[in-house]
Amino acid sequence: MFETLCSERHADSINGDFNTSRIILAPPIYTMGADTHTTQWDALPTLGSGRHLMMGDDPRLHKMPTAPTLVDFFRHRFVPMVANHLLQSARLASRAGLDEKVVIACLLHDIAMAGLVTADHGYWGAQLIEPYVDDEVSWAVRHHQALRYFPDKSVGYSYPDAYIQYFGEDYQPPDYIRQAYEQARRHKWYMTSRLITINDVYAFDPDVVVDVDDFHDLIGRHFRQPKDGLGFDNSPVAHIWRTMIWPHNSL
Ligand SMILES: [Fe+2]
Ligand SMILES: [Fe+2]
Repeated sequence: MFETLCSERHADSINGDFNTSRIILAPPIYTMGADTHTTQWDALPTLGSGRHLMMGDDPRLHKMPTAPTLVDFFRHRFVPMVANHLLQSARLASRAGLDEKVVIACLLHDIAMAGLVTADHGYWGAQLIEPYVDDEVSWAVRHHQALRYFPDKSVGYSYPDAYIQYFGEDYQPPDYIRQAYEQARRHKWYMTSRLITINDVYAFDPDVVVDVDDFHDLIGRHFRQPKDGLGFDNSPVAHIWRTMIWPHNSL
């Protein structure tokens, strides 16, 4: 049995009878501002005698193979809605006849949002894929973070209507995003990243489901799958992939 010490359940989990065997502590980045930021640590003295912190495979999650591939993460770790958005976006790019680098960039552009974090997801996503893709692809993923806020009439891209709904009419991107946009628009790979934003906005149809197998060959050509598996290749980002394999490990 598993227990996450989120705020509503905190009192019960600390004061109730401990019939759980594994306790999951929420990562600090998600408890800031909540009571659990300080109180979930009250669980530590209650541990022992069959009640322990989560370590290793969480049986609620699909057990990953010893050498996980990008497709395994699509199938077994990513938020299905976001994975489908990525697949729809890649399909739009492919059907538009765009370069395969653009298609793989579309397939990966929100990978951090799918499996890791939402804040600054373009930067996280670029870092996650950097050892495995062409520099142009990771550059494009990194800069879609900024470009999506800024219109480019020359290619028919306007500020997304959805952002007015999501963030409010008065939302203004922060300076670091504006600066990143100014730099990106002068870069030789600008259009690769801009094409992500174009194929991004139309890729949210809940009735369209695309299978990752449709991109098996494209992934084979443009994503250098490590033979030891993502998370186990000693790359500078292997730990991030491992965190997605075992997201609830306590240490
Ligand atoms: Fe995005
Ligand atoms: Fe997106």
